[in-house]
Amino acid sequence: MDKLLIQGGVSLKGEIRIAGAKNSALPILAATLLTHDTVKVCNLPHLYDITTMIELMGCLGVEPIIDEKLNVEINSSSIKHFNAPYELVKTMRASILVLGPLLSRYGQAEVALPGGCAIGSRPVNLHISALQMMGADITVENGYIKASVKGRLKGAHIFMDLVTVTGTENVMMAATLAEGQTIIENAAREPEVVDLADCLVAMGADISGQGGDTIVINGVDELHGCTYTVMPDRIETGTYLIAAAATRGHIKVKDTRPDILESVLSKLEQAGAEIKIGENWIELDMHGQRPRAVSLRTAPYPAFPTDMQAQFTALNCVAKGSGTITETVFENRFMHVHEMNRMGASIRVEGNTVIVDGVEALKGAPVMATDLRASASLIIAGLVSENETTVDRIYHIDRGYECIEEKLQHLGAKIRRIPS
Ligand code: EPU
Repeated sequence: MDKLLIQGGVSLKGEIRIAGAKNSALPILAATLLTHDTVKVCNLPHLYDITTMIELMGCLGVEPIIDEKLNVEINSSSIKHFNAPYELVKTMRASILVLGPLLSRYGQAEVALPGGCAIGSRPVNLHISALQMMGADITVENGYIKASVKGRLKGAHIFMDLVTVTGTENVMMAATLAEGQTIIENAAREPEVVDLADCLVAMGADISGQGGDTIVINGVDELHGCTYTVMPDRIETGTYLIAAAATRGHIKVKDTRPDILESVLSKLEQAGAEIKIGENWIELDMHGQRPRAVSLRTAPYPAFPTDMQAQFTALNCVAKGSGTITETVFENRFMHVHEMNRMGASIRVEGNTVIVDGVEALKGAPVMATDLRASASLIIAGLVSENETTVDRIYHIDRGYECIEEKLQHLGAKIRRIPS
């Protein structure tokens, strides 16, 4: 297994480009199953999770054509199977996103039940119950969700008990080809849900209300092909900005969207960063100063994203003062804390809150990544450590950050990959 070797103590400086959003690209690739026409998806990030989704398409009998810029053309008319096997679902939970499109377009789908993962139990009961309300016959047997429907799904009025991102996406995709109107209440408002809705509209779907908590979908008889460009990755953007703030640096991130990062930019300002924004760029300057600790609470969009709390924990480790970070979305997303304490941080966990007392600098150590965002936070911890840190199990980071060591090197970091 590859490792990352980091020599800390460098302030990040320079400019980088942000990739397409993983959590938009995954549902958009699944949405291509809703039409027999060719859909061209551009600005796909170069990530393991994207490769896994393309592999899943291959298992269904669909052969995506990928060009050298990683734009992909998908024509699903060659589909032969309707089954997402456990081998793929276990490496990527987002495989569940093919359930809605397969069921709606072909009347059948079998998707392995995703298990729990490093950040919590993560059930998919709300995906299942919503599709049942739309007339699907669904059983869970031998670890598989087996779904079928005679004729078309029927529009329904669905109230989501909890805000679920992929749950909202699955139901929205299924509803595009259902008979009649579907209303999703307590829908996820995440920008990735809006990006998927915009792609579906470009394919001929009738959707309104995306970005709000009530989404209305009027089913249509069929969807058609289109060319769609995936939006920039807000979590990748935020991760580099936090890394720059923690290292007292000055960076500019380009090809991004400041308008969907307000909660994060406001926390960075509280940490002492000067932030400038343009239409598609963000510049952060710490003027060489040590960051101030910030407190935050995660919640669904537009509140502070769960996918960025671990990175702020790393910043708080070396900040002036104390900060508390409360996680309300997932039950177990503090695995990085023990590793940071091994690096000399002063963090204690009380229920779903971590309390961080900032220290002057961390001490490098061998640490182990447990999930994608925890891995990113350990890299930031390595960047603000005296001497050397090795981050093990970085396959997690390759799932969600494109060329992370190259981008960090470009910003001056002393980081390199050690192949296994
Ligand atoms: N939940 C249920 N039942 C369900 C669905 C969700 O109880 O049927 C619970 C979950 O256990 C969790 C909460 O609802 O406690 C919210 O989970 P959600 O369904 O919104 O998460 P998700 O759709 O599985 C997506 C992202 C995650 C991101 C979360 C929250 C994708 C592919 N994944 O997951 O991204 O953390 O939304 O914003 O879009 C990541 O990129 O590192 C990542 C984990």
